Amino acid sequence: MTDTQAVAAARDLLHRARRVLVLTGAGISAECGVPTFRGPGGLWKRHRPEELATPEAFRRDPRLVWEWYVWRRELVSSCEPGPAHHALAGWLGRRSGSARLVTQNVDGLHARAQREWAAAQGDAPDALGAGRPVELHGALFRVRCTACRRETEHRGTVDASSDATLPRCSDCGALLRPAVVWFGEMLPAEALDEAIRWARAADVALVVGTSALVHPAASLPILVLERGGGLVEVNPEPSPLTPRAAVSIRAPAGTALPVLLGTGELPGVKGG
Ligand code: OAD
Repeated sequence: MTDTQAVAAARDLLHRARRVLVLTGAGISAECGVPTFRGPGGLWKRHRPEELATPEAFRRDPRLVWEWYVWRRELVSSCEPGPAHHALAGWLGRRSGSARLVTQNVDGLHARAQREWAAAQGDAPDALGAGRPVELHGALFRVRCTACRRETEHRGTVDASSDATLPRCSDCGALLRPAVVWFGEMLPAEALDEAIRWARAADVALVVGTSALVHPAASLPILVLERGGGLVEVNPEPSPLTPRAAVSIRAPAGTALPVLLGTGELPGVKGG
């Protein structure tokens, strides 16, 4: 398949689909400056997950774990949604409820792009409602109480210079933790249920920028395939899902999605 044929085939599949499940991973934010996990320079190449992203690590040294999340929050705060986030936000808006975005990303860039799109349409920028992304692995700018488990948005500064300065629950005074999923933890039940519900109802899965190594997220497109649905993958590298893809677009998301989901030319995209 040539590049143009691949994109035309993917566009056709998406156009004919009654319901689309979109699954994104760290690759969609890579061009915005947010590091991926497993690629060159990836977070898990530089840091040991068991020291920073497990409940045991947090119990052992909450200050160290918070320090890492403060660094990630600062990094993401300096990034903007890119052309891939914007193209997806516009396309989701135009599909008005017949596509659902499920992301493994905790950076909040999808929601920012969607709010910008909504605002440009004259909607209240926070009126995403049922269109908001399903955040399977939590969110960097949310916190959860380690005792009462109350979860809230948290964009304020976190002073991780000592245990005594770490953020505490305004209700019960216990330590707050980032509301992200750590290794060995369950995914948020509501988000997972919603993602599975969409995967079971979708006739096409559009999978962008994920190594598809982490389950249950990587199983969602398989649920779509099992019902006879099609799979479109956008990733410069192959993944375990590639052999099952109807169309693989081997290009960065920022190049591919504006063309796939909008209108325009597709320079230098290899299809297969
Ligand atoms: P990974 O770092 O495992 O994979 C990133 C994927 O993005 C790779 O397949 C790259 O080839 C691809 N990629 C890189 N640049 C890209 C670009 N410009 N456009 C499109 N694709 C690109 O990240 P995830 O698959 O998201 O979990 O990782 C899944 C989970 O593993 C994360 O959510 C995180 C991690 O442990 C938790 O923290 C719970």
